[in-house]
Amino acid sequence: MTGRATFVGAGPGAADLITVRGARALERADIVVWAASLVHPDMLDYASPNAEIVDSAELTLEACVDIYQRAVAGDLHVVRLHSGDPSLWGAMQEQLDACAELGLPVEVIPGVSSFSAAAAAIQRELTVPEVAQSVILTRLEGGKTPMPAGESVAEFARHGTTMALFLSAARAKQLAEELRAGGYDAETAVVVAYRVTWPDELMLRCTVGTLAETVREHKLWKHTLFLVGPALDAHGTRSHLYHPGHFHGYRRAERTARAALRGRSG
Ligand SMILES: C[S@@+](CC[C@H](N)C(=O)[O-])C[C@H]1O[C@@H](n2cnc3c(N)ncnc32)[C@H](O)[C@@H]1O
Repeated sequence: MTGRATFVGAGPGAADLITVRGARALERADIVVWAASLVHPDMLDYASPNAEIVDSAELTLEACVDIYQRAVAGDLHVVRLHSGDPSLWGAMQEQLDACAELGLPVEVIPGVSSFSAAAAAIQRELTVPEVAQSVILTRLEGGKTPMPAGESVAEFARHGTTMALFLSAARAKQLAEELRAGGYDAETAVVVAYRVTWPDELMLRCTVGTLAETVREHKLWKHTLFLVGPALDAHGTRSHLYHPGHFHGYRRAERTARAALRGRSG
């Protein structure tokens, strides 16, 4: 008897944004542990009607480990449904460590994170050539989990690139202050994404200067993510990869376009 546990990213909300592999794991689960406040209930339609369904909000880590122990003893398949991608703020590591101690085999299935769902909703690339080539995923300090030294929003903001800020809406004024302290000017574009892909989704565009009042006005204290940075309203740049002057193993460069591209790079 060994059983197994599968950690599945449920995606940002919409039931058809779970991966095919994640949905198949749900179909085969004997026990489904899910985060009812962050995962859409339609996701449970993939599960067998005989599966035991447990809301993770009611569980301590110890109670969760009891379920993994039952999986070992009874040769059961537990699916743990996490919102978005399970590698981001899902408290997954402590569960993986516990499963390793129990000798319970695990699989992790990635999910669509809310930051990519937000970028899709506003139809923007977060890494626009020559404007931003990095995305910083972080959160504001002051929540339940302390931030390690050197990970303040103000320090990350110094890079001036695209940032995705999770778990920070309840302290939007502090967030705006730290973004300014790090060097974003007041006009820098911000997208406030509330419950992306849920039926009551709200996507608002504002600036670093108007971020706090936008959150206050719409009372978006929870389930909200911020995208920040110049890539959110940049136009007019183009990639090297698809430039006619760029060559690679599958495509030749055009001679004059190549000269123009070289001039641009120099
Ligand atoms: C505990 S974290 C989980 C993040 C998740 N693992 C992910 O990859 O999106 C919860 C935070 O993620 C963000 N979030 C998750 N789902 C969201 C959604 N559908 N719309 C907006 N923000 C969301 C919010 O910042 C929320 O406070």
